[in-house]
Amino acid sequence: MIQLDHITRSYGSGEGKTLALADLSLQIPSGAFVTIVGTSGSGKTTLLNIIGGLDSNYTGTARVADQDLSQQDDRTLSKFRSQTVGFVFQHFNLLEHLDALQNVSLPAFFSGQDEAQATARAEDVLVRVGLAHKLHSLPTELSGGQKQRVAIARALFGQPRLILADEPTGNLDTTTGAQIIALFESLNQEDGLTVIAVTHEEFLFKNATLKIHLEDGRMVDEPPA
Ligand SMILES: Nc1ncnc2c1ncn2[C@@H]1O[C@H](COP(=O)(O)OP(=O)(O)OP(=O)(O)O)[C@@H](O)[C@H]1O
Ligand SMILES: [Mg+2]
Repeated sequence: MIQLDHITRSYGSGEGKTLALADLSLQIPSGAFVTIVGTSGSGKTTLLNIIGGLDSNYTGTARVADQDLSQQDDRTLSKFRSQTVGFVFQHFNLLEHLDALQNVSLPAFFSGQDEAQATARAEDVLVRVGLAHKLHSLPTELSGGQKQRVAIARALFGQPRLILADEPTGNLDTTTGAQIIALFESLNQEDGLTVIAVTHEEFLFKNATLKIHLEDGRMVDEPPA
């Protein structure tokens, strides 16, 4: 479902130019559970942003879910992001003055969807992530793990096929982090979503089907386990 060919992405120019991804090619099959690992600055977020259609300043081709992202204009990329991808971040990125339901259904508000329908859908996904009892809680009233569950529900709201998570356990203790990974595993196994997660805590991802190890914008081979 994801095919990247000869992706090169650099930032800046001249003396200050940084090569973030260097001629990277890779394939990720539909339904995979993928971790991206590598030292700080190795290009992990840059890679995720390209797969998610957030960045189009690269050379090479990126095919994701039957679309050649390298050929799309901003409007098409925006549609691709809202229909195909769900994003999850380290810092949750919730709006503090909105409750869980409102945080999750916010995209519907912007796209002018029917409010009652959007609220019903938001409730469904919050139930799916185990937050049936926290629908009207504000982020300040939630634990870190619960906040991340709201963020995952928000990612699920648009019925994506692909979840992209950038260090989703980075702000959580190990036990809570493991629970969040278990939720991703269940979304992968039971709901058939492709999950790609950047992590510094590889040990939490025991059931990953594919590991991408980046260093200096290149994939490096892993020694056999
Ligand atoms: N907006 C930007 N402007 C300039 N350089 C950038 C920008 N974003 C990333 N870079 C550079 O590109 C390289 C790759 O960055 P990237 O954010 O992809 O790394 P990362 O693997 O996600 O690191 P971390 O684990 O610290 O999040 C780094 O050298 C970084 O400094
Ligand atoms: Mg990063």
